[in-house]
Amino acid sequence: MYIAIDGPAGAGKSTIAKMLALNLGVNYLDTGAMYRAITLKIVRENISISDEKSLQDLLNNASIELVEPLGANQVLLDGEDVTEEIRDAEVNRWVSQVSRIKLIREAMVKKQRELAMKWGGAVMDGRDIGTCVLTDATFKFYLDASTEERTRRRWQELKDKGKELPWEEVYKTIVDRDNIDQNRSVSPLEVAPGAVVIDTTHLSIEEVMQKVTGYIKENG
Ligand code: DC
Repeated sequence: MYIAIDGPAGAGKSTIAKMLALNLGVNYLDTGAMYRAITLKIVRENISISDEKSLQDLLNNASIELVEPLGANQVLLDGEDVTEEIRDAEVNRWVSQVSRIKLIREAMVKKQRELAMKWGGAVMDGRDIGTCVLTDATFKFYLDASTEERTRRRWQELKDKGKELPWEEVYKTIVDRDNIDQNRSVSPLEVAPGAVVIDTTHLSIEEVMQKVTGYIKENG
């Protein structure tokens, strides 16, 4: 079974996608982690994102592996475990810019499809799964939430990690990232035809899970 879960950051996608994968007994595939890993390599090697030749060389020499230990993804970049590092501020700063680039998207989408086929099923978490990566997915969901609520969740998540940032700064980062993701020319973030849209603003994780699993049961 292939399931696409798309939506903006902070809508609850990754938590739901991981729980759903465990629930259905299929693998979870975090496509954002792949964009983050290639971004980390670009940052580390100090490559200009407008230099196509260097980007192509980098892609040709990059190994990105997702290892699936029960409902989470360990990320290996050229054999090194970068699971934590891909969530760092420097990667956050660049990842949306990097994921606008056609060359990068084509390479990542190819890897994502190969992995999902190899696994023989997956719950895929991303921005373009229903519209591009798995247009034939068995089920497509699009999770959304208000910008304020997504800011609140992100602010709390950072606080829990010991980082207390001004609310306005977190809000601005979310708005900027949404703008880039929604307005890029290649596979922008949008609702896929046939996707079930769930607004999670006023819902708990359990309530969202009930909606998703309820829909799958009724329509499976
Ligand atoms: O879900 P995330 O925050 O880890 O994603 C990081 C970035 O990667 C996000 O800003 C947009 C990009 N991305 C994408 O363009 N397509 C995907 N399928 C997944 C993520």
